[in-house]
Amino acid sequence: GASSAHNENDFLECLTVQFHRSNSDSDSIYTPKNVSYLSILQSSIRNLRPASNSRQKPVVIITPEHESEIQAAIYCSKKHGIQLKVRSGGHDYEGLSYISQTPFFIVDMRNLRSISIDTEKNTAWVQTGATLGELYYTISQKSKTLAFTAGVCPTVGVGGHFSGGGYGMMSRKHGIAADHIIDAKLIDANGKILDRESMGEDLFWAIRGGGGTSFGIVVAFKVQLIVIPETVTVFNVSRTLEQNATQLVHRWQYFADKIDDNLLLRLFLRSFNSSNGKRTIGAFFTSLYLGRVDDLLPIMQQKFPELGLVKEDCTEMPWIESTLFFAGFQGESLDVLLNRTQVSTAYSKAKSDSVMQPIPEHGLESIWNFLEEEEENGAELQFSPYGGRINDFSESEIPFPHRSGNIFMIHYGVGWADNAEYQRHINWIRRLYSFMARYVSKSPRAAYFNYRDLDIGMNNIKGNTSYRQASVWGFKYFNNNFRRLVKVKTEVDPTNFFRNEQSVPPTSTQ
Ligand code: FDA
Repeated sequence: GASSAHNENDFLECLTVQFHRSNSDSDSIYTPKNVSYLSILQSSIRNLRPASNSRQKPVVIITPEHESEIQAAIYCSKKHGIQLKVRSGGHDYEGLSYISQTPFFIVDMRNLRSISIDTEKNTAWVQTGATLGELYYTISQKSKTLAFTAGVCPTVGVGGHFSGGGYGMMSRKHGIAADHIIDAKLIDANGKILDRESMGEDLFWAIRGGGGTSFGIVVAFKVQLIVIPETVTVFNVSRTLEQNATQLVHRWQYFADKIDDNLLLRLFLRSFNSSNGKRTIGAFFTSLYLGRVDDLLPIMQQKFPELGLVKEDCTEMPWIESTLFFAGFQGESLDVLLNRTQVSTAYSKAKSDSVMQPIPEHGLESIWNFLEEEEENGAELQFSPYGGRINDFSESEIPFPHRSGNIFMIHYGVGWADNAEYQRHINWIRRLYSFMARYVSKSPRAAYFNYRDLDIGMNNIKGNTSYRQASVWGFKYFNNNFRRLVKVKTEVDPTNFFRNEQSVPPTSTQ
């Protein structure tokens, strides 16, 4: 209505004045009248589904180059009641960084993406607008034996990914990204710039897996880099049902979390047309070994002879090349890691689970039936093994709780290009998820925060959300750590300024 338009104008006016006052460049303010507004809005969107379900567009997008602009944005947002959403890489599965049902604007971190590496201490300061690809590339330019443990897709943003966990191909040897955060720079709800020391250990704990978004705007993380061998080995071998895929996947569950920590065998499962044109299920064993092929083969021979892995299946390469391999860019120049824009043409929905007991063969066969139902290649399950270094930390070390006792994580995904089929795909993934309840963790049924899923529970869009209501999704992502997250939130942001559909609520709003 008229009053909200009025608010929006006052808000814009406020931003302009504040930006001017801090001598910063107001080129970093994009209103819908600006010719670049739409391209900036869309450039990092990886999933067309959230925006297609939402009618609101951001009142403005700002792309700060200085912290003072973020402080101004917080000040004006509070003053005029326009909700602030912060976006780093834009890969949130439910689009929470760039959609809202109330009037909102986006603080887009794309221009704050510097990376500085200290090769003596093996640490790096990484601004949150950087992507994983930029981080991997920059490390590789400095050293052949330094790396970082984080996700596979190079366009994922550091801001969302590190603050929400960060699982990748080296996680069995080195844990997740959040395990390696040693300092941070955060702007709180009062516009104060804090580091580890001034924010205190409780808040510093919360932003290492609890999601940055409930607590402030993270400008940068300092991380401990990891040391890797100069040569690593990769393979991606597939087996169909006719090649015993069911038995192999079944067997995999008994060693995937216990095998040599240098080895991570991730499984991708989908229905596809095999070379003889027959429809079947493919189990793709996609793997990284932190060492040479001659050391890998005996391990595979001992622990998984059924797969029949041979030397010819394997390729040795520097670690940085392996990031291209797993991202599907094998053979391309390393520069593709720096490519931030990738126009998306697909709608998708994903969900996650954690498995603590192997799924029996007949359970796997039921999964194959589900995959066969989705005829096109848009449906896929990923089984990502836990164990190794992940289990060296207690469940409460950081908010990410999926430690000892969990064998692997399941990622369910479905994608489609024609949105007329929306409901069919959503129904499919929800039916599969409900079928899987018997095989996965219970009370709570665990979910991985970075695989955001609003089906598992949501806050109220307007007004307050009780601890009880938020517990429905909160315990799934964080288990008992959710209680401490609420405590931290109550201390640092009692008015719930930083909020979204799945942000941690303060108890004062009960
Ligand atoms: P985005 O900018 O959308 O932010 C995600 C959330 O964090 C939002 O709520 C946002 O407000 C908040 N946020 C962002 N920046 C912030 C900041 N600076 N301060 C405070 N809050 C901030 N995960 C994984 O563990 N391993 C993997 O291999 C992959 N692979 C993968 C591939 C693809 C194609 C996608 C789409 C996603 C993944 N993911 C993943 C999931 C990914 O880790 C998750 O979506 C991250 O939250 C994405 O972070 P972005 O910064 O890109 O998202």
